[in-house]
Amino acid sequence: MSQKSQLFKHHGVEEVTNPSANPALSDVLDARFSRRTLLKGSSAAALAGAFSGTFATLAEAASVPFNRKMPVLGFKPVGFSTEDRVIVPEGYVAEVLYAWGDPVGIPGRMPAFRQDASNTADEQAVQAGMHHDGMAYFPLPLGATGSKHGLLAVNHEYTDDGLLHVGGMNNWNADKVKKAQAAVGVSVIEVEATGKGGWRVVRPSKYARRIHANTPIAIQGPARGHALMKTEADPQGVEVLGTLQNCANGQTPWGTYLTCEENWDGVFINDSGALSDLEKRYGISAKDAGYKWAWEDFRFDLQLNPNEANRFGWVVEIDPFDPKSKPAKRTALGRFKHEGATVTIAPSGHAVVYMGDDQRFEYIYKFVSKNTYNPKNRKANMSLLDEGTLYVARFDADGSGRWLPLVHGQNGLTADKGFADQGDVVIKARLAADVLGATKMDRPEWIAVHPHKPGEVYCTLTNNSERGKEGKPGPDAANPRPNNLFGHIIRWNENGADPAASGFKWDIFVLAGRPDAEKAEHKGNIKGDAFGSQDGLKFDNNGVLWVQTDVSTSTVNMKEYKGMGNNQMLAVIPETGEFRRFLTGPNGCEITGIAFTPDNRTMFINIQHPGEPSDERSDPSKPTAISRWPDGPAAGRPRSGTVVIHKLDGGVIGS
Ligand code: FEO
Ligand code: CA
Ligand code: CA
Ligand code: CA
Repeated sequence: MSQKSQLFKHHGVEEVTNPSANPALSDVLDARFSRRTLLKGSSAAALAGAFSGTFATLAEAASVPFNRKMPVLGFKPVGFSTEDRVIVPEGYVAEVLYAWGDPVGIPGRMPAFRQDASNTADEQAVQAGMHHDGMAYFPLPLGATGSKHGLLAVNHEYTDDGLLHVGGMNNWNADKVKKAQAAVGVSVIEVEATGKGGWRVVRPSKYARRIHANTPIAIQGPARGHALMKTEADPQGVEVLGTLQNCANGQTPWGTYLTCEENWDGVFINDSGALSDLEKRYGISAKDAGYKWAWEDFRFDLQLNPNEANRFGWVVEIDPFDPKSKPAKRTALGRFKHEGATVTIAPSGHAVVYMGDDQRFEYIYKFVSKNTYNPKNRKANMSLLDEGTLYVARFDADGSGRWLPLVHGQNGLTADKGFADQGDVVIKARLAADVLGATKMDRPEWIAVHPHKPGEVYCTLTNNSERGKEGKPGPDAANPRPNNLFGHIIRWNENGADPAASGFKWDIFVLAGRPDAEKAEHKGNIKGDAFGSQDGLKFDNNGVLWVQTDVSTSTVNMKEYKGMGNNQMLAVIPETGEFRRFLTGPNGCEITGIAFTPDNRTMFINIQHPGEPSDERSDPSKPTAISRWPDGPAAGRPRSGTVVIHKLDGGVIGS
C-alpha cells in the first residue's frame, strides 16, 4: 500500500465540500440588532411547564425544586494564560480524574499507563482513549438524583499517533493501527466523591467499559438493511464494527448517552481515481487525514469496501448502565459530520434532538421523534430515536426561520433525484439538505437548550475563514461576517416555545472577537472577557451558559489570536450577556466536554490534546516539547484528561 499518499490533512481545517447553489441571503443585518422584542410571546409560555432535556436535570425536576431565579456569577475572572496548567478562579480547585492510558476499571484487566507508550493494543482497549471530548454524568443508581456517585461517559475523538506508540508512526504496522483503533470511541467509568471535595474513579467497577473502533454496533432506523449499508462482512447491513471520531455528545432523559461521529471521513481513502458524488460531498478523498488505517486494515480502503464509509457519520446511542448492551447507530438522525446531539422533550412529549454538522458552509439539523417519551417505562424509550422526522434549518433575513423536513417523497426528495427511499435520504442527508435550500453556516458546533426557557436554543458557530472569499458564499444575515476568524453564537426561539415547532425566531447572541483587533470584522461585540473559536457549549442546571474554546493549534496565541493565550472556558448568563473567563488550559490543548452533578457543585471538563503541535502530530523524539500536562516532571508524554472542579467552600460552581 506504499502508493498511498502520506500527506497529512490537518484535523482542524474543515475543508469545504458543499458546492450546492442554495440561495445565500445577501442583506447583512446589524448583528447587534436584537429580536428580543419579537419574542415576548414566548417568554410567558416559557414559564409554564419549563424543563430541560438533560437527564440529571429532569430527574432533579422531579424531586428538588431548582433555582428558577436568574443566577449570578460570583467568581473573579482569570486572565489570559500561556502557563502549562489548568487555572481556575480563586476559591476553586481543579484536579485530574481520568487521563489517557488510565485503566477504565474492568475487573481483572487494569493495566497501568506506561509513560513510554509501550502499552499494547489489547491494554489500550481497557484504558482511557486519547483526545477526550464530549461527556455526560449519570447519577447512580439508575434513576437517582444524587451528586456524589455516578457514571461518566467520555468521548475519545481521535489520536495523536506521534504520542500513542513507541517511535510514533515510524515502522507503521498492523499493531499500531490496532492500538489507534482501540484509543478512540467512548469510556464509561464509575466515579464517586471522596468526601473531601475530591473525586476518584472506582476500580474495579461492574460498569467500566470501553467502546472503540472494533466494537459491534447495531444499525437501527431507516438505513438498517439498506443496500448502501451492506458490506461483504455484513451482507445484511445491520451491524457495523465500531464508532470513531467521537466529538460532542448528548444525553437522553431515559438515561442513555449519545456519541457523535464527526471527522470520520479522515480514516477512509478512495484512491481509485473515481470518487462518487456522495463521497465528494462528505469529504472523502484519495488520501486519508494521516491516520493510515487503510494501510493495514482494508476495511477503510473504499476501493475494496465501497460501502464501509456509509456506516459512519451517525449518532450512536449507548446505555451506560448496562455494559453488556449493544450500542446502536440511530440512522433516523441523519448522516453527516456530527458535532453533538442535544436532547430536549417538547411539551407534547416528543423527543427533539438538535445537531450541528461541523464543516464550513454546512447545516444545523433537528430530529423530532414520532412517538413520545415515557418517563415511567425506560425500555419503551430505547427505540424512540428510530422513528421521526429529520429537519434542516433555514435562517431567513427577517429574523424568522423554518425547519425543512427531510422526508422521502416530499420537496424534491424523490427517486429521480437520487432518493429512492428514506434510507437514501438519511445516508445522503447533506445532499437532501442541499435540495431543500438550507442555510450554509459557519461550522455549527455544540447546541445548548436553556433549562428554564423551553425552545430557547443556542449554537456555537466556531469560525469560517472561507466566508466571503472568491467563489465561496458571502456573508448572510445569520453568518454576517466575511473571513469569520472568531465565530459567533446564534440563538433561536422555537415558535410557541415548542421545540417540536416547524418555525422559529432567531438572533445573534454574540459575535466573538477582540476589541483591539485591527480589522473591524474581528472586533466582535462581546460584553466582558474576549474569546474566539467557541465550540463546547452547555447550560448548567441554574441557567448559566458555559462556553469552551477550540482555537486550533496552528492559530492559538498567534496571528489574529496573538496575546490571547491558551484555550479557555467562560460563563455567561444570557439575560445579562456578560462573559466571564473561568478557566484556562495547558499548552497546546482544546477545552471541551462539560458535565455537572445535579446539585451543580461538581463540574467535569476535558482537556483535549495538551501538547499538540500546529500540525497535530507530535514528534515522537520530543513528546514533551510543548506540554508536560498532567504528569509534570514525571511525564513521558502529555495526556488528554478529564478534570473535576469544585469550590473550596462546597458551593455552586460559578456562584
Ligand atoms: Fe470535534 Fe467540531 O469538533
Ligand atoms: Ca468540538
Ligand atoms: Ca472545534
Ligand atoms: Ca479538537
